[in-house]
Amino acid sequence: MRVSASSAALCAGLLLPGASATIYYAGVAQSGGEFAVWSATSAKGTGLPGRFGVDYQFISTSGVDIMTDEHKVNLHRVAFLLERMCPPSDGLGAKFNETHFDYFKEAIDYITKTKGAYAILDPHNYMRYNDPSSQPFSGSVIGNASDPTAATTEQFGAFWGELASRFADDEKVIFGLMNEPHDMPSSLVLENLQAATDAIRAAGAKNLIIAPGNSWTGGHAWTEGGDEASSNWMHKLVDPAANTAIDIHEYLDEDFSGGHTACTQDAATHLEGVTAWLREHKLKAFITEFGGSNTTACATMLEGMLDYMAQNDEYIGWTAWAAGPFWGPNSPCCTDQQQFGSLEPGSKAADGGPSLYDTIWVPVLQKKVPAELQWSGIASVDGGELTAKP
Ligand SMILES: *[C@@H]1O[C@H](CO)[C@@H](O)[C@H](O)[C@H]1NC(C)=O
Ligand SMILES: *[C@@H]1O[C@H](CO)[C@@H](O)[C@H](O)[C@H]1NC(C)=O
Ligand SMILES: *[C@@H]1O[C@H](CO)[C@@H](O)[C@H](O)[C@H]1NC(C)=O
Repeated sequence: MRVSASSAALCAGLLLPGASATIYYAGVAQSGGEFAVWSATSAKGTGLPGRFGVDYQFISTSGVDIMTDEHKVNLHRVAFLLERMCPPSDGLGAKFNETHFDYFKEAIDYITKTKGAYAILDPHNYMRYNDPSSQPFSGSVIGNASDPTAATTEQFGAFWGELASRFADDEKVIFGLMNEPHDMPSSLVLENLQAATDAIRAAGAKNLIIAPGNSWTGGHAWTEGGDEASSNWMHKLVDPAANTAIDIHEYLDEDFSGGHTACTQDAATHLEGVTAWLREHKLKAFITEFGGSNTTACATMLEGMLDYMAQNDEYIGWTAWAAGPFWGPNSPCCTDQQQFGSLEPGSKAADGGPSLYDTIWVPVLQKKVPAELQWSGIASVDGGELTAKP
């Protein structure tokens, strides 16, 4: 049964007057499925298909256990590569590498069925396909009609239709249409997203969809870029099932890249434009990538960002970047290439010191995971019944 947030709250008396309860889904990005394809010489095909469990892996079950059971998060965003799901020899589309798909499904089922949490499927491809060797810049832009080697918009739709049909019976699965489209026409971003959305609904899947914008789906950049601004395009995406939210990324460093240690770009200030746009178009949003280093300034700004999301009804979910099984002492963001470990439980910095799990997840982010989240029912733009973790 699907219960709207307000009626659930009223019936169960869950809310204190003045408390906000707009975050239904909170957790971490699980990064690892996209590993081991980068090449210093841009050698096409590097790391493909790759060895599961050696070169890449989607989750560690122990990490997911700690995050879900101890830290009570209900959302994991799981990265994978289109070139592994659909080998370039066959092209992007409905034909999958079934061995690879089975590994992926096992990870998703672990999160949703074994742990009872929600999972975002994250094709980590920057709206490109056929050459991840210099991601995020390599590979043909999907739907580029001037590039004969590019996968077409129709192929992207066929891919999503097939993937959706395989997860349509799991209401805890959320379809993240694409990670960080960039440097392409916004009209084409929208066309590709529409093809995917149409194919997903045609496959009979009612699951929540989250759709990115252009410009790395940056929240700060949403209204920038003149005609090309995401704010001119993304509200035109039509979902016949009316269950699509916007997928935003937002880092706090000087250039919003997540590459630097110093947090200087306050989220509340920089999200003002996209928040107003969301409100204008009655859209909800997830922030599925954000992060910070272990400085005092980052702790303050991360807390401010999570408070901002909790206080603005437009935001219904978040995943921090990033946990994952293969980071080791390396850092997923925000360290100027220093090796401070990741958000993966048990990870350590290269010098054996505390990792970002110890210094950012536990003392900062974890404290902002709402005590009550949605633990049952379909993931939805309207949220669902809020409860403590069962
Ligand atoms: C399919 O995936 C498996 C597991 O990674 C791999 O061993 C196999 O070579 C892949 N097949 C193709 C055609 O890429
Ligand atoms: C599309 O392909 C053409 C031909 O390869 C290329 O010049 C152009 O930059 C591509 N467009 C995008 C957005 O990548
Ligand atoms: C951040 O963590 C690393 C690794 O544990 C440590 O060497 C460094 O001193 C920490 N930085 C701050 C500002 O606490």
